[in-house]
Amino acid sequence: MKLILLGAPGTGKGTMAQRLRDDLNIPQISTGDIFRKNIKEETPLGLQIKDLLARGEFVPDDITIAIVKNRLAESDCANGYILDGFPRTTAQAEALDSFQNIDCVINLHGEPEAIIARLAGRRFCPACNGTFHTSRLQSETVCPVCGGNLIIREDDREETVRKRLEVYSTTTFPLIEYYEKKGKLRTIDGDRYVDDVYDDILAVLKK
Ligand code: AP5
Ligand code: MG
Repeated sequence: MKLILLGAPGTGKGTMAQRLRDDLNIPQISTGDIFRKNIKEETPLGLQIKDLLARGEFVPDDITIAIVKNRLAESDCANGYILDGFPRTTAQAEALDSFQNIDCVINLHGEPEAIIARLAGRRFCPACNGTFHTSRLQSETVCPVCGGNLIIREDDREETVRKRLEVYSTTTFPLIEYYEKKGKLRTIDGDRYVDDVYDDILAVLKK
């Protein structure tokens, strides 16, 4: 199963992708996680893109496409994968079409004000890439999965979230029509209880 999770920031792509990864036993490929790892390790790429991410802007298409193309060529992607946060521009979607045949695109829909509230409570574990919400954590600083230190993502400040939502509307939103025309798009309401959203995704994938 070659799957794309599409949706605005904070609609739950990472949360759903991690559950799908565990249940379907295929890798989750999050461009955001790849970029944050490079920033943390201060690689040449990390140093180049650090400010872009902090401002809520996109990494240039040529860099992003090359990273994903290389990652999808690795052996663990042979039986499928979940793309979380890629593609995000029409150029990225067209490039992906030139080297992969995607089975299904799940579009998670969320209202902007719900997204802002959600991201204000998000905690992230840089050690295992786990994503959590304060409403469901016993400790706001200790990862319940690996015991690592939970952090608040720099781009989860409200003004940056608003900027990311703006970039999403102008640049990523057109991909809904792009995949609709190809007959691959399924839209799911992401503003519901996590298990209900996930059950709907599984139901779509079974069809
Ligand atoms: P990325 O890391 O992909 O960020 P994003 O798309 O902005 O999405 P988020 O990770 O913020 O949200 P999510 O949808 O994964 O939601 P989550 O599951 O965490 O990208 C970061 C940056 O990298 C970009 O801004 C850009 O600069 C760059 N970048 C990445 N990809 C790129 C690309 N292709 N091209 C160019 N640049 C790129 O959930 C959010 C919170 O809500 C969590 O706390 C979670 O626990 C909670 N939650 C989830 N679902 C529910 C639910 N149903 N009910 C209640 N709470 C929920
Ligand atoms: Mg994410």
